Amino acid sequence: MIDEKGTLAEAYDRFYARYFDVLHASQTDDVEFFRSWADRLGGPALELGVGTGRVAIPLAAAGHEVWGLERSQGMLARARAKLADEEPGTRERLHFVAGDVRRYDLKRRFALIYSACNSWEELLTEADRREALECARRHLAPGGVLILDLSAPDLNRASATGESTYDRSIPLPPGDMELRIAARIYYDLENLLVVSDEVHEIKEGEEVLERIEFRHARALLEPKRVRGELARAGFELTASMSNYTGRALRPPSAVAVYVARPAA
Ligand SMILES: C[S@@+](CC[C@H](N)C(=O)[O-])C[C@H]1O[C@@H](n2cnc3c(N)ncnc32)[C@H](O)[C@@H]1O
Repeated sequence: MIDEKGTLAEAYDRFYARYFDVLHASQTDDVEFFRSWADRLGGPALELGVGTGRVAIPLAAAGHEVWGLERSQGMLARARAKLADEEPGTRERLHFVAGDVRRYDLKRRFALIYSACNSWEELLTEADRREALECARRHLAPGGVLILDLSAPDLNRASATGESTYDRSIPLPPGDMELRIAARIYYDLENLLVVSDEVHEIKEGEEVLERIEFRHARALLEPKRVRGELARAGFELTASMSNYTGRALRPPSAVAVYVARPAA
């Protein structure tokens, strides 16, 4: 989303490419989850919005052929740099492709297509998501599975008119630098978006070395809406979960994971 301060794409290129893995260092349960699905289904997997390869690289290292689509050149460069340090077999099995998840033609089919860590919510309109769903359906092999890993919307917050704030500092190894993230989060209920006006700063002591301000909008995707959009794009929902071990989708929950197949 573009605003006068900066774009999310710039934030990915300038900040997240360098710090995404630091921010998500403790997040491994989703990696295990997608790896177990890849094990179960066999065949190649495609990640939509692959980022720095946080999930895709471990899948390829575990022996799976994986393709990863990504539109941020910065994230892609980081993913490729990480992959260069991997074993030759992993490098051969993993294919990073510059592209948009709404329109691509990889000229092959996949047993598993997945979107991890809320990437799907960056498709802000139903038309965007419809295009991405139809593209995914064309790329699924017979018996293939689509998995969308989203954040569970907090409908209590969404129904309130107020806003919330977020302020977090993350130490950056090595040395005494830190990444400070401050955000003002509010709901745009007319367009069904969660909007976060964010300031990211790299600090050394009290000195600010770098700073970026941008607006991060995400689609507000409550379960009924996800189910409807999947159905309209020719998918049938086979499971929805509120964690990576299969707990049924119900509050309280931070994540909402949807498993779908093309409708018969
Ligand atoms: C929150 S990050 C998640 C990265 C990765 N999936 C992970 O789990 O670590 C979202 C990623 O989706 C990418 N993305 C968003 N919209 C996209 C689009 N339309 N086409 C391709 N990539 C997109 C962003 O550039 C970003 O790298």
